[in-house]
Amino acid sequence: MANIFTRAANGAMDWVNARAPGMMPAYRKHMTEYYAPKNFNLWYYFGSLALLVLVNQILTGIFLTMHFKPSAAEAFSSVEYIMRDVEWGWLIRYMHSTGASMFFIVVYLHMFRGLMYGSYQKPRELVWILGMLIYLVLMAEAFMGYVLPWGQMSFWGAKVIISLFGAIPVIGNGLTEWIMGDYLPGDATLNRFFALHVIALPLVLLLLVVLHLGALHEVGSNNPDGVEIKKGPKGNRWDANKPADGIPFHPYYTVKDLFGTGFFLILCAFVIFFAPAFGGWFLEHDNFTEANRLVTPEHIKPVWYYTPYYAMLRVVPHKLSGVIVMFAAIAVLFLVPWLDRSKVKSHRYRGWMTKVMLGMLAICFLWLGKIGAGPGTDPVETIIGRVLTFLYFVFFITMPIWTKLDRTKPVPERVTMHD
Ligand code: HEM
Repeated sequence: MANIFTRAANGAMDWVNARAPGMMPAYRKHMTEYYAPKNFNLWYYFGSLALLVLVNQILTGIFLTMHFKPSAAEAFSSVEYIMRDVEWGWLIRYMHSTGASMFFIVVYLHMFRGLMYGSYQKPRELVWILGMLIYLVLMAEAFMGYVLPWGQMSFWGAKVIISLFGAIPVIGNGLTEWIMGDYLPGDATLNRFFALHVIALPLVLLLLVVLHLGALHEVGSNNPDGVEIKKGPKGNRWDANKPADGIPFHPYYTVKDLFGTGFFLILCAFVIFFAPAFGGWFLEHDNFTEANRLVTPEHIKPVWYYTPYYAMLRVVPHKLSGVIVMFAAIAVLFLVPWLDRSKVKSHRYRGWMTKVMLGMLAICFLWLGKIGAGPGTDPVETIIGRVLTFLYFVFFITMPIWTKLDRTKPVPERVTMHD
């Protein structure tokens, strides 16, 4: 029996290979003959997990689209219909809404890994830039998705965020109106956000992810030691000309990633089945009430993944300056490959300054996130928010200095296998 299947599979493969001879070499290049450093740790799960969540969002999104009505009159009730009447609709919706938050958790950890191990340094600047473009598109994608259920926070969140463009001199008001297609978020806004959310931005995201991985595979993966395995000794069990410290991505890392996937899916299942709103962090309480342009919610705030930037916007007293600070906080991340002047990639072989600065950045980001999620009425918190915003920028602006001053240790020639 097995023999018949093997013969049929081999036959099908030969048939395809004869007609598309480039396919098997591409598979080998990116999977079985992609030699990844053998010392990947836990932090290296997040790239494949981000891919997994992307696939989840697209698949569950397709099913939601089958029942969702993109009009201001029907959107909210169509989501209620999905939750109550569509078979398994509640599961599909919660998989999608939980997936959105999980996407950002995974992507933030993925980015922080890059910062810790200097994965943005030469020759991986393009990998980082493409990653940053993914991050931008992902933020736009999630923002538009949040508007679709047409709850109170969808409406008021959209109003506040789109109105930010109004702070731009001269063109501001016209631009706001152009984005909304109206004077307030309405049917036209919902319709265009739907088009962008379900097709335009996912296509861009997919393209960027392909380019991101393509760029990575050209230069090869970095690793927790920041050792360039391609520059090290050659020859491993599979190929005498390939890096000695490399192992084939498939099957070694596909199996390892499968373990991470299992663990991650269990975590997601806990959220989906026991706490889908996650205390108002993943789905805000106000969004369970239909949008009403005559009733403003007590506290308008975005979902947690935007709150660090939202906090920056709020603690700066002048509106246009706040908008500039907020966008600069994201834009400055693009420059990291050129701000870092250290000859050493990984924090493992750098001194205390790198560790202190990375710790400070993480604390600023998380604390600002907490401030941005609050009501924003506490004056002490506003002062703290200003200090944190200042320190956030200190990390980047002074990066060329502390990366140069920080004392480094000798980097080993081969990767290490501890921790
Ligand atoms: C949809 C979002 C994303 C997906 C699906 C994705 C996917 C991946 C995958 C599969 C890898 C290889 C495995 C790994 O190193 O973990 C990778 C590597 C990398 N990604 Fe992403 N990524 C995403 C977003 C980002 C973002 C937002 C950034 C940073 C701005 C980024 C920066 C990097 C870097 C620097 C590497 C190389 C890491 C190294 O070799 O040490 N990625 N990405």
